[in-house]
Amino acid sequence: MRLAPDSSLNIVPELEPEHAEVIRATLPLVAANIDQITPLFYRKMFTAHPELLRDRFNRGNQHDGAQQKALAASIATFATHLVDPSLPHPRELLARIGHKHASLGVTEPEYRIVHEHLFAAIVEVLGADVVTAEIAAAWDRVYWLMATTLIDFERELYDAAGIEPGDVFRATRVVRRVDDPSGVATFVVESTDPARPLPGFLPGQYISVGVTLSDGARQLRQYSLVNRGGDGRLAFTVRKVLAAQDAPAGEVSNWLHDSLGVGDALEITLPFGDLTIDTEATAPVVLISAGIGVTPMAGILEYLAAETPARRTVILHADRSTTAHPLRETVADLATRLADVYSRAWYEADGHGLMDLSQVEFPEDADYYLCGGTGFLQNIRAQLMSAGIPSDRVHFELFAPNDWLMDAEPQPALA
Ligand SMILES: Cc1cc2nc3c(=O)[nH]c(=O)nc-3n(C[C@H](O)[C@H](O)[C@H](O)COP(=O)(O)OP(=O)(O)OC[C@H]3O[C@@H](n4cnc5c(N)ncnc54)[C@H](O)[C@@H]3O)c2cc1C
Ligand code: HEM
Repeated sequence: MRLAPDSSLNIVPELEPEHAEVIRATLPLVAANIDQITPLFYRKMFTAHPELLRDRFNRGNQHDGAQQKALAASIATFATHLVDPSLPHPRELLARIGHKHASLGVTEPEYRIVHEHLFAAIVEVLGADVVTAEIAAAWDRVYWLMATTLIDFERELYDAAGIEPGDVFRATRVVRRVDDPSGVATFVVESTDPARPLPGFLPGQYISVGVTLSDGARQLRQYSLVNRGGDGRLAFTVRKVLAAQDAPAGEVSNWLHDSLGVGDALEITLPFGDLTIDTEATAPVVLISAGIGVTPMAGILEYLAAETPARRTVILHADRSTTAHPLRETVADLATRLADVYSRAWYEADGHGLMDLSQVEFPEDADYYLCGGTGFLQNIRAQLMSAGIPSDRVHFELFAPNDWLMDAEPQPALA
């Protein structure tokens, strides 16, 4: 992640010593109860503001608790850093949240809503007798230090996009739909307002897509951009999330597949996202993906093929089978436009086994970009670590809220 020298994420916030002492003493108590606090917080906030659950938050993530865990883990990580500044600054975590918030048009006044219900939940779970005025003041300070850092960073993102805070929603129309043999569908959209064409973006960024479902809810989901951009068009590729045992079919991905065609209107937001390649750098690029995690790689390859085809590139992908591999032909075509490229895939069902990086010779000083499920990412990060690749060269995107448990036990490299 590259930040402007004066980015708010370079400022290390400081907690006053008296607050730091209270936070250090109460962190274990809050951590032990965080699994009760965050769901209660969301229940309270959505009861007071049902429109936030209907139109803004991802209700799928609320069902499986992913968002609750992500919020709790982010606050705990931030608080831990404040009381022990020798720990690495949680810049990547803040950048990921800030980009996600900008992609959803989050604005400063909304931080007061989150504050009100989060603190009400803390008091209800821990008890008003436990949450003394001193403890409340210390946690209040932590919240606002984190909120201010995010608000400032999000303002920088809105400024860089040349828009007013939160003004990210755009009306578009589908100008092309391509159904890939693997079953994924690519949609190309352009603005319905000729005075406001869709902007370019950095390779690896995503948009949010808003869909009004049959019960009237406007649900938003993120999709990585797979085109080069700069021509007023944005393209994204969607995999249908099928129903499984105890898990209903994905709401937005199925709606897009079943209901969206050329000429239809679609609400999207402007591009954001921090898994972007350094377009100024000349270092080799290693792209490692599994399943639908190929999409940001396709966007990056579109950029490399158009702008820097001589940049050394390694493309590695894991999938269940050749037929399941999304955008396989598109990526193969893009690879032929690069001058110095090595490409390899592992197909589990075709007997190739799981992705094994010891079979690959990596170029010196490369930057690594990873995208796939949590288990895949954990496994690949562990393999890269044991190959001696410095962790600051390894960047990753997850298609689910990040609970920052990525360093937990490595899993097999399943797609
Ligand atoms: C930065 C980013 C980039 C992304 N890029 C892409 C991309 O390029 N292409 C792509 O296809 N996807 C991408 N995604 C994922 C995408 O945003 C959606 O998450 C995905 O399409 C699924 O959305 P959905 O509405 O279909 O599923 P949802 O309805 O959100 O469901 C998600 C999961 O939750 C389960 N679930 C929902 N409700 C319940 C319940 N009540 N009980 C039990 N389980 C439940 C569903 O069964 C499903 O497995 C990206 C995500 C992020 C964060
Ligand atoms: C200090 C306060 C806040 C913190 C610590 C916080 C933290 C987070 C985190 C960790 C994520 C998940 C990021 C990811 O990995 O994808 C997230 C997503 C999100 N946040 Fe915040 N947030 C805060 C304030 C707000 C506010 C004020 C709003 C506006 C109402 C908001 C709306 C959202 C939404 C809509 C998402 C996406 C949820 C989803 O798609 O499931 N957040 N936030």
